[in-house]
Amino acid sequence: MAGDLAEVLFSKSAIEARLSELAAEIDADYRDLNPLLVGVLNGAVMVMADLSRALHIDCAMDWMAISSYGMGTQSSGVVRILKDLSTDLAGRHVLVVEDIIDTGLTLTYLMQNLASRSPASLEIMTMFRKSDAMKIEVDVKYVGFDLPNQFVVGYGLDFAGRYRNLTDVGILAPHVYS
Ligand code: PRP
Repeated sequence: MAGDLAEVLFSKSAIEARLSELAAEIDADYRDLNPLLVGVLNGAVMVMADLSRALHIDCAMDWMAISSYGMGTQSSGVVRILKDLSTDLAGRHVLVVEDIIDTGLTLTYLMQNLASRSPASLEIMTMFRKSDAMKIEVDVKYVGFDLPNQFVVGYGLDFAGRYRNLTDVGILAPHVYS
C-alpha cells in the first residue's frame, strides 16, 4: 500500500510534530472554554483522534456526516447532511476539525449551517489545505500544511476509499489510477 505513493510529502513524525504545535495553540486559545470539536466524517477521524489526545484542555467531540451532491471527484458545494450533530451548539465554542479543504465549497456550506445554530464562536482547524484549488476563500484559523494541487492520500485522505490508514501522506502514483 505504501508502495503506491510516488512521493512522501509528510511523514508520520512530521504530522505528529505539526499537530502538537497546533494543539498548543488551541490549548492556549480555548483555555477554560470547553470547546466542542466537530469532526466531519470520514476523513477527519485520524486528525480528530490525534488532535484531541494532544490537547490538555477539557473538550467534547461530536460528528457530522455529509454528502456532496454531484458527480465525479469534484465538490459541487451542495451538501446533504447524512448525520447531524447530537449536541446543541447554542453558546458553545465550536471548532470544526477537517482533514482537508480542497475547493472550500463543503466548508462554506457547513459553516453557514453551523453559524445559524448560535454558537458562541465558530472556527476551523484543517490538517491540510490545497490553497491553489480553493474556489471560495474560507477563513481557517488553524492549518497543518498546505498541499500541492495533486492527488494526495494518507492520514484520512482517500482514493476510492483506500489509503486513509497510511500513516504518511504522499502523492498517489499515477499507475494506481491510470
Ligand atoms: C473531503 C474533506 C472535506 C471535503 C473538502 O471529504 O473531508 O469534507 O472533501 O472538499 P472541498 O473543500 O472541495 O469541498 P470527502 O467528500 O472526500 O469525504 P470523506 O471525508 O469521507 O473522504
